Amino acid sequence: MIHRREIRPLLQHPPTGETVTVMGWVRAWRGNRFMVLGDGSGPETLQIVVNGEDFDEDTIRAIGFHACVGVTGELVASQGSGQSVEVIAKEITVFGGTDLSTYPLQAKSQTMEFLRDNAQFRMRTNTMAAVFRLRHALAFAVNKYFNDRNFYYLHTPIITGNDAEGAGEMFRVTTLDPHDPPRTEEGTVDYGQDFFGKGTHLTVSGQLQAEIGALAMGKVYTFGPTFRAENSHTTRHLSEFWMIEPEIAFADIDNDMDLAEDFLKYLINHCLDNYRADLEFLDERIQQSEKNLKADLRRPMGLIEMLEFTVKDDFARITYTEAIDLIQRSKPYKKKKFEFPVEWGTDLQAEHERWLVEKHFKKPVIVRDYPKDFKAFYMRLNDDNKTVAAMDILFPFIGEMVGGSQREEREDVLRQRMQEMDVHEDALAWYLQLRTFGGCPHAGFGLGFERMVMFVTGMGNIRDVIPFPRAPKSADF
Ligand code: 4AD
Ligand code: MG
Repeated sequence: MIHRREIRPLLQHPPTGETVTVMGWVRAWRGNRFMVLGDGSGPETLQIVVNGEDFDEDTIRAIGFHACVGVTGELVASQGSGQSVEVIAKEITVFGGTDLSTYPLQAKSQTMEFLRDNAQFRMRTNTMAAVFRLRHALAFAVNKYFNDRNFYYLHTPIITGNDAEGAGEMFRVTTLDPHDPPRTEEGTVDYGQDFFGKGTHLTVSGQLQAEIGALAMGKVYTFGPTFRAENSHTTRHLSEFWMIEPEIAFADIDNDMDLAEDFLKYLINHCLDNYRADLEFLDERIQQSEKNLKADLRRPMGLIEMLEFTVKDDFARITYTEAIDLIQRSKPYKKKKFEFPVEWGTDLQAEHERWLVEKHFKKPVIVRDYPKDFKAFYMRLNDDNKTVAAMDILFPFIGEMVGGSQREEREDVLRQRMQEMDVHEDALAWYLQLRTFGGCPHAGFGLGFERMVMFVTGMGNIRDVIPFPRAPKSADF
């Protein structure tokens, strides 16, 4: 049996004078006498005093950066600044040394790319540990928010035969024998019927199944991995990302927007209230890294200030038509600074979204009532017959954080939309039946979980907020 004290709880009520045993990884050495030990129980570290008289030099030298050790010693008030207590080591056990001549990580800071390629050690860095603690915090808050409000967590499938978004960017699932696959007459591999005789792929969204849940249990949400096969190399897209999708019965687009705004603010507040030390660490890190940038490239405010500002104020709410109008009257539009055209009927591009949020409103913006032509078939047609009751929530630095809509509950209109958009009825007969029998107005949205983690941690690349990113050319771990 191993007995040890965890550093975070130990520091909350330090039993000074007691002999304690702690275990962890060496985060740093201050000179060759002070070892900084962290065990992951929180961002806190404990200073260990290693007196030269008690340990021979070779032992100390063998305990390199990121070595794993157990220390037994006396917990005493610290003489140094920056910590209240420290441990005077009496006994040190080296569980796992690190030979610094071959260890891939060095005490100096590493690039994010390098850390991604060395994911086996990535979480040992202070930055990544803080990011993944906040990721946990957000996941916990998601479940708590919905549980406290009588939503039920519905697990929707990962392998599915339907294409929820109609976007056609899916990963196929196959049971084909790679050495002897069935072939078409032309000799190419026949992927037509590949999941025990049926064409399937990895899910792009759990929404359609969540609608089944909402139309029986009232309020449900999904929270699971989703997959998009777009070959995009941006800092905002992953091939595998986690999505939270609440779906509520007896709700319209206004209920949907209210729920989404309240939910996002709750998630941020949860981190501000419970993970202050991690946020302060990340805030400081951003300020250091932006120190040498020109003023207009720096963030307009610090990380914590930004989070506090976001929860305090109402989000701006405008229609798509108003958004187009604002953008057409903007300076960058008049000076032809936008790469993509802006006219009614075209989708907003990231550059337009960022202008709206960062330059015009300077806070999150909800854009609603988009033209039906570039939105999904299931969104409810508005009375103008041109737009649908869809909404996107746009955030500073992130762009689209949430996409949602009121769903088309009128069977005839839905059928018509499916035909217009070439969505095959056969595969979605069950979806239409939800309207034929016992349907009602309902709505929901999807929050891209990693985009929320990015916003809360201030990380600039989505690959650095998920432990094992899946994106084109990154699937090693
Ligand atoms: O806007 P999307 O595609 O909406 C849906 O999938 C709906 N079925 C949601 C619903 O109404 N239940 O995706 C929702 C959100 C986006 O706003 C974005 O935050 C995130 O998912 N997202 C991605 N995040 C990371 N990588 C990608 N490739 C993403 N694609 C979408
Ligand atoms: Mg979207």
